[in-house]
Amino acid sequence: MQKFTTDDITPESIFQQRRKIIKALGVGAGLGVTGSLLPNISFAETQKLQALKFKADNNKNLVLTPEKKVIGYNNFYEFGVEKGSPAQYAKNFKTDPWKLEIGGEVENPFTLSHAELFSTFPLEERIYRFRCVEAWAMVVPWIGFELARLIEKAKPTSKAKYVVFHTLHDPEQMPGQKNLFFGGGIDYPYVEALRLDEALNPLTLMSVGLYGKSLPPQNGAPIRLVVPWKYGFKSIKSIVKITFSATRPRTTWEKLAPDEYGFYANVNPHVDHPRWSQASERVIGSGGLLSVKRQPTLMFNGYEKEVAHLYKGLDLKANF
Ligand code: MTE
Repeated sequence: MQKFTTDDITPESIFQQRRKIIKALGVGAGLGVTGSLLPNISFAETQKLQALKFKADNNKNLVLTPEKKVIGYNNFYEFGVEKGSPAQYAKNFKTDPWKLEIGGEVENPFTLSHAELFSTFPLEERIYRFRCVEAWAMVVPWIGFELARLIEKAKPTSKAKYVVFHTLHDPEQMPGQKNLFFGGGIDYPYVEALRLDEALNPLTLMSVGLYGKSLPPQNGAPIRLVVPWKYGFKSIKSIVKITFSATRPRTTWEKLAPDEYGFYANVNPHVDHPRWSQASERVIGSGGLLSVKRQPTLMFNGYEKEVAHLYKGLDLKANF
C-alpha cells in the first residue's frame, strides 16, 4: 500500500491555468500538458482537438487526483494484483501496432489500427469521477471519444442488445494470464459488457489518454472503456475486440464471484458489497495512509441526472 501526502494534490485551478497557457501557445488544449503528445496525431489534428469539458453540473468542483496516483495506483490483474504491479510489469507492454476489431450483430464490421484509434472519431477531454468497487475514488481528466460514435459507424442490427468488450489475451506479455496466483485467479481474457442503451449514453467514453497524454500501459493503453457511473471493473482496459450480441455474456467478475460483483455494477451507496460498506469512499491522494479523507458515495457516482432513466423499474438491489 502506498503512502499519500496532502501536498501532492493538483488543484483543478492550477491544471486549468496550465491549460490556458498551452492554448495561448497554439497547442491543442488537453495535449502536451506535461509530456508527450498523443501518438500519430499531426499538429493540425492537435489543433482541432477541443478540450470540451463535459457540461454536467457535477464536475464543477471536482479536484483532480494527482497524476502520479492515477498512473501508480492501478488495478490491471493481467500485470499482477498489487496496486503498484501494473506500473512495474506493464512497462514494456507493446501497444503499437494494435488492432481493434468491431463485429458481431452489425451491418458494418470494421477494424481500427493504432493510428486510427486516435484519428477516426473526435477526441475530447472529460473530467470524470472514478469509483472502484473497493471503495476508493479518484477524479481523472480522460481523453477519448464517445462510444456512441463508434456504434453509429458499426450500425448495430436490430438483434444487437449488448456490447461486449475483450481485453488482449497474450500470456507472453501479460504475466497474470500465465500464473493463476499472480493474475488473481481470473479466467482470461477479461471480458466486460454493457446494455446497448448504456453504451450509447453520452457519458460512456472510449479513452485513449489521460492528463493530456496517451494512456500509459498500466491504465489500459492503447484504448480502454470508461463508464463513470459504474464501478471501475466495468472500465475494461487494452481492448482488442468489441462485439455486438443478442444475448448478455457472463462478464469476468460476475463469473468469478457472482454474489459480490453483478452485471450492472452501478455505483450505489445503498447496496453494500457483502464484505464492506459502499456508503463512503477513500479519496486517493487526499492524505496519509491514516489521514486519508473519506467522502460519501453518491448514487450513480454523481451522474444520477444523466443515467437514472436507464434503470426505471429495475430493482437495483437484485440487479446490483
Ligand atoms: N481491465 C482489465 N483488462 N483487467 C483488470 O484487471 N481492472 C478493473 C478495470 N479494468 C481491470 C480492468 C478495475 S477493478 C478497475 S478499478 C479499473 O480498471 C482501474 O483502472 P485504473 O487502474 O486506470 O484506475
